[in-house]
Amino acid sequence: MAEKLISIYIMGKKYEVPSSLTIMKAMEWAGYKLIRGAGCRSGFCGACATVYRIKGDYRLRIALACQTVVEPEMYLAQIPFFPAEKAIYDIEGLEPTAEQLFQIYPEILRCLSCGTCTKACPQEIDVMDYMAEAMKGDIASVASKSFDCIMCGLCAARCPAEEAQYNVALLCRRLYGKYLAPKSQHLRERIEEIEAGKFDEELAQLKSMGEEQLRQRYEERDIELA
Ligand code: SF4
Ligand code: SF4
Ligand code: FES
Repeated sequence: MAEKLISIYIMGKKYEVPSSLTIMKAMEWAGYKLIRGAGCRSGFCGACATVYRIKGDYRLRIALACQTVVEPEMYLAQIPFFPAEKAIYDIEGLEPTAEQLFQIYPEILRCLSCGTCTKACPQEIDVMDYMAEAMKGDIASVASKSFDCIMCGLCAARCPAEEAQYNVALLCRRLYGKYLAPKSQHLRERIEEIEAGKFDEELAQLKSMGEEQLRQRYEERDIELA
């Protein structure tokens, strides 16, 4: 049975596309070759941020093009990049403090607590909430609350205070990972073993093997039972 076609508008131009396609597949079906605005195609990379409106409804909506099925009369625009402030820093020379956050991103303190960023987030992250934690200088809390961020840029695109929420959150996750997260004893021990050369001989042996030998070794490996 022929699939039902619906009308959508891509960058203002009307197309008839199958109703079961995602926005991304519908764009390709309509003839667009995506060289920006597409990456993982699985909802993880944040490259396919999309803003749309349905005809007759004033509301602007957001979506990931790879995860959202088309609807009739959608007016679509892709936002594959948003020019938000992105500080350059050397994480080795930073301190995990509120003062450091405000020095790198002083605009954090301009947040109006309007909630627009939270409404814009396709990951359903409470962006306003993690920005409130950033204003308090609570780096661990920002890191935790922003963990599912995919850096799509939609929050920054809608922010009246011109914040770069996702870059603030990225800085907090980096500071947390580098300075605040509890260290793993197992990892520390394994790194010491590697640095002491415990695996050098075994690695050299693996590197000298051909493909067949490597395959056989892989298939015969010990597997820990779940
Ligand atoms: S949209 Fe901007 S100003 Fe509004 S709550 Fe989010 S970060 Fe603050
Ligand atoms: S926090 Fe911002 S950049 Fe991260 S996923 Fe949500 S809208 Fe996208
Ligand atoms: S292409 Fe990666 S999230 Fe859509």
